[in-house]
Amino acid sequence: MRRTHTDKHYVALIQRRLLRWYRRHARPLPWRRTKNPYRILVSEVMLQQTQVSRVLQKYPDFLRRFPTLQRLAASSPADVIRAWQGMGYNNRALNLHRLARLAAERYHGRLPGTPDDLIGLPGIGRYTANAVACFAFGASVATVDTNVRRVLSRVFPARLNADPWLVAERVLPKRSAYDWNQGLMELGALICTAKDPACGECPLVVHCPSAHRIVPALRVKSTERTRRSVPDRIYRGRVVEVLRSSRRSVSIISLRKSVIPDLASSERKWFAQILDRLERDGMIRVTRKNGDLRVSLPE
Ligand code: ADE
Repeated sequence: MRRTHTDKHYVALIQRRLLRWYRRHARPLPWRRTKNPYRILVSEVMLQQTQVSRVLQKYPDFLRRFPTLQRLAASSPADVIRAWQGMGYNNRALNLHRLARLAAERYHGRLPGTPDDLIGLPGIGRYTANAVACFAFGASVATVDTNVRRVLSRVFPARLNADPWLVAERVLPKRSAYDWNQGLMELGALICTAKDPACGECPLVVHCPSAHRIVPALRVKSTERTRRSVPDRIYRGRVVEVLRSSRRSVSIISLRKSVIPDLASSERKWFAQILDRLERDGMIRVTRKNGDLRVSLPE
């Protein structure tokens, strides 16, 4: 019988090999040594857009500062934004704080344990909902992030056009979901990297139709708004960075000088829009004092 890439035996072989590799090679990352849902949530939110090496530096301090979901809920948004320093994408800090307050109201300060209840909470998409349900609550569900999507598309290219979530669910070993999901991520991070995969060291090399013939994907051009080739996101981050280091509110003029010393007068409107958006997102607070506009983090 000719084996296809969807063959049950073929999938079972790959499952066994990856699980064995993961159990031997897994890095001892702190979020892999806990079942505490809050700690796992924090790690997954941090890892959404920040490298493991940076998260390792920030994660322990964050948990010391906010050891439980309840303590997070009892803090001010400004405190959480300050603790997020160095991580980038500050919206995640704000959403984590909103999630904590919502969980306090709705779930007695605990996290719900099913993907259906988790998804849609502030900052929680399908990946993070499933990751928390699987890693903290033992749910047997797939977790597809960028790394996992890449690994699956290489190992199971016959289904390249299929929805990656369907592929991931189909090949998930139901009784080893935790190790399988972590293993796919570990393989994607250490071996099956985007640009320069180490196929020679891959436990799946003999089964992988893409082995040794991977051409790095072309970078998708970003659609972000920019000013002089710098994405607006970077300026937003700078505004928050200035406010972080200031205990009090800052006048708009001094904020503008700190963030963009060479702002042209024709760019003032653009800068006002940056602040508007930050205010609408709840990231900053703008107040009027004696006719002067002042900006602060949401205390
Ligand atoms: N990236 C996202 N989640 C992760 C995890 N649990 N371990 C390592 N990298 C990750």
